[in-house]
Amino acid sequence: MEEDIKVVSDGTLSYRGNKLFLEENSWEEIGERYGTPCYVYSQQAIVSRIKALQAAFRSFSPLLCYSVKANSNLSVLRLMKKWGLGLDVVSEGELRRAKKAGFSGSKIVFAGAGKSPAEIKLAVRYKIFCFNVENEEELDYIERYAASEKWAVNCALRLNLDVDVQTHHYVKTAKKNTKFGLDLETAAGVVVRREKWRWAKITGIHFHLGSQIKEPSGYSQALAKVKDFCERSKFFPKILDIGGGFGIVYHPAEHISPVSAFSEVICSSLKQWPSVFLILEPGRFLVGTGGFLLTRVLYVKRRGEKIFVVVDAAMNDLIRPSFYGSYHHIIPVKKKGSGQMLVDVVGPVCETGDYLAKERSIPGLIEPGDLLVVAGCGAYGFSMASNYNSRRRPCEVLVEGAKNYLIRKRESFQDLWRLEETGL
Ligand code: LLP
Repeated sequence: MEEDIKVVSDGTLSYRGNKLFLEENSWEEIGERYGTPCYVYSQQAIVSRIKALQAAFRSFSPLLCYSVKANSNLSVLRLMKKWGLGLDVVSEGELRRAKKAGFSGSKIVFAGAGKSPAEIKLAVRYKIFCFNVENEEELDYIERYAASEKWAVNCALRLNLDVDVQTHHYVKTAKKNTKFGLDLETAAGVVVRREKWRWAKITGIHFHLGSQIKEPSGYSQALAKVKDFCERSKFFPKILDIGGGFGIVYHPAEHISPVSAFSEVICSSLKQWPSVFLILEPGRFLVGTGGFLLTRVLYVKRRGEKIFVVVDAAMNDLIRPSFYGSYHHIIPVKKKGSGQMLVDVVGPVCETGDYLAKERSIPGLIEPGDLLVVAGCGAYGFSMASNYNSRRRPCEVLVEGAKNYLIRKRESFQDLWRLEETGL
């Protein structure tokens, strides 16, 4: 059990006596201080991930553009900035967050299947480093705004490489039947006509295979296809953005290749391209394992053989189990007893699909009032939270050694209807 906890938390969770700690912080105290449900992030886990990624790709010194969608909290973005990372943004909101967190445009790439003209205009005004382009017409907008700002901007064509990776159907993004990227024929045509765009400089190639990718073979397939495309179209990009996607361990028994295995495959595929400027867009890999959702047990309901543990966090706080059927490890804050309980952990929302775990064996005895920690929640946890059932989104806390900081307040009830006050 202790080993499992280590694996799903990068070693930041541990029991001292019968009480669970995150770094040097007692979860009981965090629960008392901030209330529940509450997202909590370990700075140590995030920083160790940043360092591991930087070390793995050292030979290429890539621009690591953290994917803001995974966790867009300003304090998380500032941590990325402190460690020299850039950002991958996909909307005006993320672009404005990047600015707010103090990022210079020169470290921002802008991706997205449907950038609006207003978003493109703002990104040009911010003098971002590169647009990842998904439609030919997008180039015309970029050209128009870049010309009026007299700012020539890099554009990387996002290729749809029709590469399959083993992951949830919803987050495979490189298959032919997905909405993403330009097919190779269209991209080749754009490359031939590239002189047409004088301010939207086509200098790069981009792809993103998907998310929660378990092993690196998809990257070598993709890079072989990119190489073939470049040779055929006689286009040799200065910039190569290979997207994000590196997976993390959610279930203690699942095997995810270490980042060094991904970097070996990628760097060896790029041997003949030593001078290309490499960009990576990791999201989940950097923040997923270092984030937790703290929740309190409201009721333990028995129906025949079945036990429902009703907690105060719900699908609006963490949608991943309901939406993707994802597994998140659940750990009691206080060890009680030596047995196991086979339970469904469910929230208060009015849907049968509102659950955090199904048929889960949890060690010890679980009673009302107990605290539970849900692991693997740093990425696509808070950032996908909603106000469904008029529930306030949780607060967010960052832990550093023995210290902890509130990095986002819990929403107030006023926040729920603030924007409706002009109505009937
Ligand atoms: N770059 C692009 C173009 C992307 O679309 C994504 C993620 C990333 C980078 C970052 O991917 P990562 O390194 O985090 O795998 N909500 C889902 C994940 C959606 C990912 C969307 N795109 C989940 O909870 O699993």
